[in-house]
Order: sequence, then C-alpha cells, then structure tokens
Amino acid sequence: MSDDIKKGLLGITVDETEVSKVMPEINSLTYRGYAAQDLCAKCKFEEVAYLILNGELPNKKQLKAFEKIERKERNLSKTLLDDIKKFPKKAHPMDVARTAVSIMGLEDKDTKDNSPKSNMRKVMRIFAKTPVALAAFYRIRKGKKVIPPKKKLSFSENFFHMCFGKVPSKEIVKAFDVSLILYAEHSFNVSTFTARTITSSLSDIHGAITGAIASLKGPLHGGANEEVMHMMNKIKKPENALNWINKALDNKDVVMGFGHRVYKSGDSRVPTMREYFGKVAKIKKDKKFEKIYDIVEKVMIDRKNIHPNVDYPTGPTYHLMGFDTDFFTPIFVISRITGWSAHIIEQHAANKLIRPLASYKGNKYRKVVRLNQR
Ligand SMILES: CC(C)(COP(=O)(O)OP(=O)(O)OC[C@H]1O[C@@H](n2cnc3c(N)ncnc32)[C@H](O)[C@@H]1OP(=O)(O)O)[C@@H](O)C(=O)NCCC(=O)NCCS
Repeated sequence: MSDDIKKGLLGITVDETEVSKVMPEINSLTYRGYAAQDLCAKCKFEEVAYLILNGELPNKKQLKAFEKIERKERNLSKTLLDDIKKFPKKAHPMDVARTAVSIMGLEDKDTKDNSPKSNMRKVMRIFAKTPVALAAFYRIRKGKKVIPPKKKLSFSENFFHMCFGKVPSKEIVKAFDVSLILYAEHSFNVSTFTARTITSSLSDIHGAITGAIASLKGPLHGGANEEVMHMMNKIKKPENALNWINKALDNKDVVMGFGHRVYKSGDSRVPTMREYFGKVAKIKKDKKFEKIYDIVEKVMIDRKNIHPNVDYPTGPTYHLMGFDTDFFTPIFVISRITGWSAHIIEQHAANKLIRPLASYKGNKYRKVVRLNQR
C-alpha cells in the first residue's frame, strides 16, 4: 500500500474543534479547557453536559433552567413507548437506542430545521428521552412494568429509578455520574466523526446521532465495555487471571479494554474511574473483579506496554451496580449524546462536506458483456 494512504485516517487532522482536547502538558482529556478529572471532582453530570453543549460551566440559575428543560422533556410519546413494547425482547439495547432516536426524528416538529436554536431544542429532547426509552426497554424485556421518569430526580438518579425502581446510595450515584462525565466527549473518535460526516451533507441531528449510536456499538469503540465484562466472566476467578491473560497474549488475541488510538501511555480517564470502581466494589463487598482487573492490567503493561482505556474499569463498575452487560454501551450513549451534539452543532456552524479520496485497486477498464453472452 502506498505511503500516501493513511488507512484509518491515522495521524490525519481533518478539522478544528473547540469542544475537547487531550492536552499533553497536563496529560489529560479536557472539555472546553477543563480537565475531565477536575470536572468529576467538582461537578455533577448535568453541569458538564451544559459545559459541553454551551461552552461554559453554568451558574446556579443557568443550571436550574437547563435541568428544568431536561426534566420536562423526559416523557416519551405514546407511539414511541408502544413501539418499544413491540421491539423483539432479544434485540440488543444499542439497536433499541438507535431505533428510538430514529423514531424521535419522525416525531420531532423541528427535524428539518438545522438552525442553532432548533438544534439545541432537539438535543435537549434526545438527551432527556433516550435514557427513558432505554430504561423502558430494560423493564419491558424482563416482563416488568415500565417506571415513568420522576422530575425531582437528577439525570443519574432518574436512570436508576427507571431501571430498578429505586435510587441507590449517594456514593453509587456519584460513581455513575463520574462514569457519565468521563464518557461524555472525546474529540474525533469514530462515532463523533460519523456524526460529523453525516452532518456534513447538511443532514439533521436525529440522523447524525442514529449513525453515531451504530458506530459506537462496535467492540473496537464503545462496545468494549461489554466485552471487558464478558472477558472477566470467562476468567471467572482471580486465580485463573494470570494464566488466562498470558494465554490470550500468546495467541495474539486483542484484549478488550486495552489500547487506544490517541493515548499510547495510558488513558487519562482511567485513574479516576479506577478509583470509583474500587469504591463501588467496597460498597458491594465484592473484590473479585478488582483482583482480576489488577492482574490482567499488570500483565498487559509488563508484556505489551499496552495500558487500559476507560472501558476497562467502567465494565465491572456497571456490573456491580446491577446493570445487565448489554446495557453498558447504551449507558455510554446517554452520556456521549452531549459530545456528539456539540460536534454536530459545530459542524453545522462551519460546514465542509466530508468526502475523502480512495486509491483504486480494482479491475482495469472493461466492457459489459450482455447477460445472454456471459
Ligand atoms: C483501540 C484500538 C482499536 C486502537 O487501535 P490502533 O490505534 O489502530 O492500534 P493497533 O490496533 O494498530 O495496535 C498497535 C499494536 O498494539 C497491539 N494492540 C493494541 N491494542 C491491543 C489490545 N487491546 N490487545 C492486544 N494487543 C493490542 C496491536 O495488536 C498492534 O500490535 P502489532 O503492531 O504487533 O500488530 C486497539 O487498541 C484495540 O483494538 N483495543 C481493544 C478494543 C478497545 O478496548 N476499544 C476501546 C477503545 S477506547
């Protein structure tokens, strides 16, 4: 392959953004200039969602107004809820999220209007309704009654309430909030680039987010948090971990939750999420996954110098919180809607059609032979 070809757009800068950056000087992911771990320590998820979408952290009044809209927009239309009830129970919840956002696009009165004001109205509806749609499916597929959203609950509290019928301790809610903050945005990753590519044809936000969800589903991207849990379940107990990981590396297997296109010596989100994983494990009095975690991580670094990415600690954390494994990536979705939306709005504001070139290596020119002569 010619050196001119940058397969996977490796190392190629395709546009400018003001939304986020991994800043080498502080070795950290930053949203609008703030380090993600600083935001985790000092903010709740709604503040960070506001920051990503609006460019600045909110004051109390702005936060209240933002939360009021999000809470008001939570209810699903009867059509959408009835549709979710008809979805196959075995469908992957990522496909449910993708289809639900697509249906929201059929119903939204602003779908065709890509002006900044209309886009922000649509973002708030998608942001508020997607967790509700997912939680409804969570209940329906278990044959349980759908629990409607509660306006007095925060974004994270409400998600627990709708899935489980109760809100866990403040510490668990904080750990969940932290995971949402860490998942909210990450520059030109695959799903965000997908959203921006769809937007670049001047298509609408529902379409762009639908495409982004499809992209996030893959195991090399958001789907990795589910794969991490499958791996931990295969390992079963800490005593098996060393043997398992050494065998996997001998077989040249890709180990999920490790490696990153941007971070080559460690994902800056991992230490924060690792800390909250430990807190949740302590509350749940279950140290098994932590032990497996540490053994696999050590071997990956010692043998391959490959460090974990944020999906490695989020997988077992969500498991300990009680979520089904196939709901891990959908949780990523409900957070990343903020990052995708900020990029979609940015793309609309300074658009250039995204249309790269390919080096052709197919057949030389040839003439069509009619069907009866082939
Ligand atoms: C994320 C990922 C796709 C990045 O890929 P990339 O930037 O294209 O890097 P590469 O896949 O080319 O990896 C470079 C080398 O490291 C190895 N490597 C990277 N990640 C690895 C992993 N998770 N397990 C084992 N080996 C890995 C590759 O095999 C390759 O080795 P080689 O040069 O001997 O062929 C890749 O690290 C991966 O598949 N990780 C697992 C999935 C995952 O956790 N995704 C979530 C990302 S946030």
